[in-house]
Amino acid sequence: MRRWVYYSMGLSLLFFASCMHKTETKDDDVERKVENLLSRMTLEEKLGQMNQISSYGNMEDMSGLIKKGEVGSILNEIDPVRVNALQRVAVEESRLGIPLLVARDVIHGFKTIFPIPLGQAASFNPQLAEDGARIAAIEASAAGIRWTFAPMIDVARDPRWGRMAEGCGEDTYLTAVMGAAMVRGFQGDSLNKSTSIAACPKHFVGYGAAEGGRDYNSTFIPERRLRNVYLPPFEAAAKAGAATFMTSFNDNDGVPSTGNTFILKDVLRDEWGFDGLVISDWASAAEMVAHGFAADSKEAAMKAVNAGVDMEMVSYTFVKELPGLIKEGKVKEAVVDEAVRNILRVKYRLGLFDNPYVDEKRQEVMYAPAHLEAAKQAAVESAILLKNDREVLPLQASVKTVAVVGPMANAPYEQLGTWVFDGEKTRTVTPLTAIKELVGDKVQVIYEPGLAYSRDKNMDGVAKAAASAARADVILAFVGEESILSGEAHCLADLNLQGAQNELIAALAKTGKPVVMVVMAGRPLTIGKEVEASSAVLYSFHPGTMGGPALADLLWGKAVPCGKTPVTFPKMVGQIPLYYAHNNTGRPATRNEVLLNDIPLEAGQTSLGCTSFYMDAGFDALYPFGYGLSYTTFKYENVKLASANLKKDDVLKVTFDLENTGKYEGTEIVQLYVQDKVGSVTRPVKELKRFMRVNLKPGERKTLTLELPISELAFWNIDMVKTVEPGDFALWVAPDSRRGEEVAFKVVD
Ligand code: BGC
Repeated sequence: MRRWVYYSMGLSLLFFASCMHKTETKDDDVERKVENLLSRMTLEEKLGQMNQISSYGNMEDMSGLIKKGEVGSILNEIDPVRVNALQRVAVEESRLGIPLLVARDVIHGFKTIFPIPLGQAASFNPQLAEDGARIAAIEASAAGIRWTFAPMIDVARDPRWGRMAEGCGEDTYLTAVMGAAMVRGFQGDSLNKSTSIAACPKHFVGYGAAEGGRDYNSTFIPERRLRNVYLPPFEAAAKAGAATFMTSFNDNDGVPSTGNTFILKDVLRDEWGFDGLVISDWASAAEMVAHGFAADSKEAAMKAVNAGVDMEMVSYTFVKELPGLIKEGKVKEAVVDEAVRNILRVKYRLGLFDNPYVDEKRQEVMYAPAHLEAAKQAAVESAILLKNDREVLPLQASVKTVAVVGPMANAPYEQLGTWVFDGEKTRTVTPLTAIKELVGDKVQVIYEPGLAYSRDKNMDGVAKAAASAARADVILAFVGEESILSGEAHCLADLNLQGAQNELIAALAKTGKPVVMVVMAGRPLTIGKEVEASSAVLYSFHPGTMGGPALADLLWGKAVPCGKTPVTFPKMVGQIPLYYAHNNTGRPATRNEVLLNDIPLEAGQTSLGCTSFYMDAGFDALYPFGYGLSYTTFKYENVKLASANLKKDDVLKVTFDLENTGKYEGTEIVQLYVQDKVGSVTRPVKELKRFMRVNLKPGERKTLTLELPISELAFWNIDMVKTVEPGDFALWVAPDSRRGEEVAFKVVD
């Protein structure tokens, strides 16, 4: 009980704190301490601070290095007793007593696992993301972790890329808003509190644009696109006060990020005024040799440090090579000093010099009831209702028997998703368990998984499941991807359901009973056929520890779905990249032209219409960005502008009526899209600029207002200047990126 009170106070304080949040600014006292310490450090001690090691278990060995001042940070130590033991060596036994910075990938929860970030993005609820990150920080810091490598805010437009799961999807604005919220959540209202952990926006930058959606691959993002699409989420994270940044693995236009002075110095430091620390990604300094950007580890170290990397993750080229490079004058000691300043500044800001140790008794925060409740709510809000024919959902009291089928119905490990090092499957509640608990003896639950795991191809199981399911009133089919199928290095060239899951859905549909398909995955999958075979489809991405109870509530109408797709769902993999904010061609398709099966024999060369589409897939998506249904329906009306002629420093005000025209109370995610009709360079057909969550009771109608400063229509133009170009614009207040009535306005000089 006490925990509850404490927690709910925490959450309201959290909201207050988030409004009050200010970015960390240089504090004279900290700067004095940094300079003082720096002036007493030997070169070896400086290089030690620039070295991050991964725990390799041997305490004696690691303590030896720490004692000599050769380690500034350690990742992957999560036992508070061991963390304190190592910290004691740093603080009490090393010459200068500089505390260690203890890091871990806490991506969507530490013990209590929230939906994968892509799922959280589907909620379009930054407060939810902030609360999730806060809870992750409270739990992780109790293990002694004070630095997470999150949020991952790589705009990603290719679902073949396994790491799409870790980010907020395809949209620049949504990613910026959610990413900044996560930074606030991790860092709390002040970095130096013992429950605050430093955030590390990653991967700087462009990593999500890997060619072919294959991880680590090269990118080719020209500066304008980099600035208009990929950099804004990082700028927002820096503004939210992110203490650290991580470079990305990719080379963009031939320059690996870890050796890229333009992004690390010109943009991050000079334009944005970032004064925290920059870490390389895992061995990405040394990997510049494999890239062919450095001849050997010496040149790699030189290029990384001179470009602006302060700390090197695990590849030791700094410690090994910098002494020689300094002697030869290839790296100035002033460059090393600046890197060490950035590192020490973060350590001071975290309060590590005053409070280096973790309270080993704080372990009861793990899986606290309020954390589980928040994780459940996050899973509820992350689920997207893609289809609901004849209102099969929510299930009514007339449903007396359900069949629970599919490899994801009772797969506690798999529903947690990627990047879960610390969450435990034993603490995870699956849909099967939650459904049984929810329905008690009122509904008979027939459980027949059909397939043991998502890649399983065993057709015997499929036949058995279909036979059992035929006895039910409704079939609930839990399909998707095992957690290993998404995440780092886990890319796919085929996005159809794996194994015999398609056959499973087809066999279930053949029973004639309504099939409700629930998909748990790390990315949008090409599920067109299975959608057709199902009466209803709920897409939940990987929903985390409390995915089961959240889905059970949604299926039985104890909660109403409100999530919207944070990424375009392609029909076929060959359509990728497919994203809503694309530029227009000179020949845009407006309808699906003649498709493959309708082409007459010996058709004339131009008879199909010369527009931009695929003959086998048309031009549109299976589901557009921002799409999602509810159990209720919403009507948009009377979209009006306060003024349709605006100056650059004006604020656009658009009012509209929203009515709940259905039977259930529900939340609609209203989206405001804008198009700049003519630019000095071609502009996206639509760009999300604002969104708002509105809860309405059945029959309730509200007049609402969205405001948008015209300055936010600025983009990097033909002269590579960020500016608002006067002219004609259009906007849509809409339920997704495809619908809504176009409203015109002008920006005048
Ligand atoms: C990943 C990073 C991660 C780091 C540390 C790398 O392989 O790209 O995202 O933070 O490992 O685990």
